[in-house]
Amino acid sequence: MSKVSLLLCFLLINLSSGTDNFSRDDFPPGFVFGASSSAYQVEGAADEDGRTPSIFDTYTHAGNYHGATGDVACDGYHKYKEDVKLMADTGLEAYRFSISWSRLIPNGKGPVNPKGLQYYNNLIDELISNGIQPHVTLHHTDLPQALEDEYGGWVGQEIVKDFTAYADVCFKNFGDRVLYWTTINEANVFSLGGYDTGFLPPQRCSAPFGVNCSRGNSSVEPYIVAHHLLLSHASAARLYKKKYQDKHHGFVGINLFSYWFVPLTKTIEDELAAQRALDFYSGWILNPLVFGDYPDVMKKNAGSRLPALTSLESQSVKGSCDFLGINYYNTLYAKDYSSILKKEKRDFNADSGIKIMRLQNGTTFEFPITPWGLQRLLEYVKQNYGNPPIYIHENGQRTLRNSSLEDWPRVKYLDGHIQTLLDAVRNGSNVRGYFMWSFLDSLELLDGYESSFGLYYIDLEDPDLRRQPKLSAHWYSQFLKRKNVIS
Ligand code: NOJ
Repeated sequence: MSKVSLLLCFLLINLSSGTDNFSRDDFPPGFVFGASSSAYQVEGAADEDGRTPSIFDTYTHAGNYHGATGDVACDGYHKYKEDVKLMADTGLEAYRFSISWSRLIPNGKGPVNPKGLQYYNNLIDELISNGIQPHVTLHHTDLPQALEDEYGGWVGQEIVKDFTAYADVCFKNFGDRVLYWTTINEANVFSLGGYDTGFLPPQRCSAPFGVNCSRGNSSVEPYIVAHHLLLSHASAARLYKKKYQDKHHGFVGINLFSYWFVPLTKTIEDELAAQRALDFYSGWILNPLVFGDYPDVMKKNAGSRLPALTSLESQSVKGSCDFLGINYYNTLYAKDYSSILKKEKRDFNADSGIKIMRLQNGTTFEFPITPWGLQRLLEYVKQNYGNPPIYIHENGQRTLRNSSLEDWPRVKYLDGHIQTLLDAVRNGSNVRGYFMWSFLDSLELLDGYESSFGLYYIDLEDPDLRRQPKLSAHWYSQFLKRKNVIS
C-alpha cells in the first residue's frame, strides 16, 4: 500500500475529526463499533465435525452460484483464534456473527453436536477474552437442509417449534456470555430472495429471474415465509424473555434490510410509490413488531394471500423486540408502476406496484454512496415506530474482489455513513451500535467470490488464505483507536 494513500487516509481522518467534530468519542457512552459476518459466508469446514448441509450448501452445490461454494470460504472455522486477534488489533469493540444451525443441531432438531457446541464456545470465549462483545444471529440464510426436506422449511408451520427449540439450545449454552441475540437476519430479503426472485436459497420461486425458479409459488410463499419468520422470532424472543432474561440480562431482536426510497419524480403517484415501497419492504416486518399487524396497504393489495395474524399471534409478535437490527446499504428511486403491474400475475411486485431504480451517482459495480438516506430512514423509524433501540447491523461498500488494496470507495463510504450516523444520533435517533459489513472478504450473497466487502482481502489462490489489510482496515482501525496518525 502506498505511503501517499495512507497519508491521504489519515488526512481524511484528521479532517473528519477536526472540522466536522467527528470522532469515535463523540458517540454516546455504551455505543459499540464492530464488524459483521455470517456462518456460511466465512466458516468453511462445511462437512467437518458433524456439520450437515444447509439450504445454502444445497444452493451452491447445485452449481449455478457463480461457480462458488462455502466449503472453505475464509476457513474461519479453523482460523478463529487468528481472526479474533486481528479483530482486537483492528480495534473492534464488537463482532456480529451467526451460528450455523446445522453445525449445532445436524438434523435441525434433536441431538446437539458436541463439536458444534465446542466451536461456538471457543469462538465466544476467544472474543470475550479479547474484549470483544459477541452479537449473535441465529438464522442467516442457512436453514438445515433436513428441515427443508422434511416439511418445506420456512414454508411449513412446524418451523416455529423447531426454530424455538434451536434458539433455546443457543440461549442455554451461550447466554451466560452472549447478551445480544438476533433471531433472523433480513427477514424481508430472505423471504423475497428465497421465494420470489430466487437469488437466495432455497430458490423457490415462480418469477422468471433465477435458473431454478420453477419450484415455488411466488404469489403466496414470500408472504407465508415472512409470516413464519415473524412467528418464529416472536416465539424464540418470548422464550428468552421468560426463561433467560432475568438471569442473563441480555437483549433479543430481529434484523431487517432497509433501503431508503425517494420518489423518482415529484408527482403524487411517485410520492405514494415511495411510501408504498417503505411499507412493503420495511413495514412488512416493522408494523407487526410495533403495531401487531401488517401495513394496511399490504393487506389491501395482497388480500388473502397475506396471512392474517390471529389475535394471539399479534400479541406475541407485537413488542417482542428489545432492539431492531437494520442493514442499510443505499437509497433507491421508487416509481409508480401500479397501472402496469396490476394487469399481470399477482405477486409481491405487482402488489407493491412500484418499480425501484438505482440513483446514478455511482459506478455500476459499487453502490452509490448515500448516507443521507440512512439518516432519513432513522428519522422515519423514529417518527413512525416509536424510536426503538437500533443497531446498524450491516453497512458497507461493494468493490471487485481482486481489485486494489487501496479501497478508497470503501473508506469514503464508511467515513460518510459514520459521520451521518453521528448526526442522526445527535438528532435523537436511538442507535446503539454500528457494524460494518464485513470484517473479511467472504462468500458474497450477491455473487459468490466476485465482489468484496471486507476490511481484509483474502487471495483465494493463497494456500494459507492470509488476511491482508486494505486501506479501509487502516482507516477504521485509526478511527476506533482514536488516532489521527500512524503510531
Ligand atoms: C446482506 C446480507 O445479510 C449479507 O449476507 C450480504 O453479504 C450483504 N448484505 C452484502 O450483500
